Amino acid sequence: MIGVGDGVPQTNFLYRVRTDGKDICYVDETNGGENPFEWKELSTADIFSGKRVVVFSLPGAFTPTCSTFQVPGFEQNYDKMKSLGVDEVYVISVNDTFVMRQWMIHQKVKNIKFIPDGSGKFTAGMGALVAKDNLGFGVRSWRYAMVVNDGIIEYMGAEDGIMNNCETDPYVNSTPEKVLEYLENA
Ligand code: BEZ
Repeated sequence: MIGVGDGVPQTNFLYRVRTDGKDICYVDETNGGENPFEWKELSTADIFSGKRVVVFSLPGAFTPTCSTFQVPGFEQNYDKMKSLGVDEVYVISVNDTFVMRQWMIHQKVKNIKFIPDGSGKFTAGMGALVAKDNLGFGVRSWRYAMVVNDGIIEYMGAEDGIMNNCETDPYVNSTPEKVLEYLENA
């Protein structure tokens, strides 16, 4: 995997968003119509340029550890991270925008933003793309959490032992607590 001092991969993410102009974190379903959505493209520059952001990545939407601990943990600590000089917090997964949007709604998220890396291009550029064929998942992301300042990685908390078809699902180094520990001492 790439690490501290490296630039994040340059790529684009495709989102399907509501046509009322609300962003990916908007969960109000009152904007009616048969299909009130349109496709939008977000570049890595849109996300990272001139900003200090936290990004955490995980093996899949709706999976147990990610849904029970990782996403709720970062959501609950969003204000604390902001108070420590972070502009935004993003979660990224090798899932498409339909899946990521429904997961976001299911999680009742109000703060962190969901990035669909459906084609895995960003994750591949991070060196974090791993096979999970042992679970029928295809290729997904190894778990990590990082702090990125203006596109350059300033902190990386990746799980140890990156490998294909890992039998376990380590969640030790990429927790919100580890990111907070770094931010508080940075
Ligand atoms: C989990 O988040 O618990 C999980 C992730 C990937 C595979 C299986 C479980």
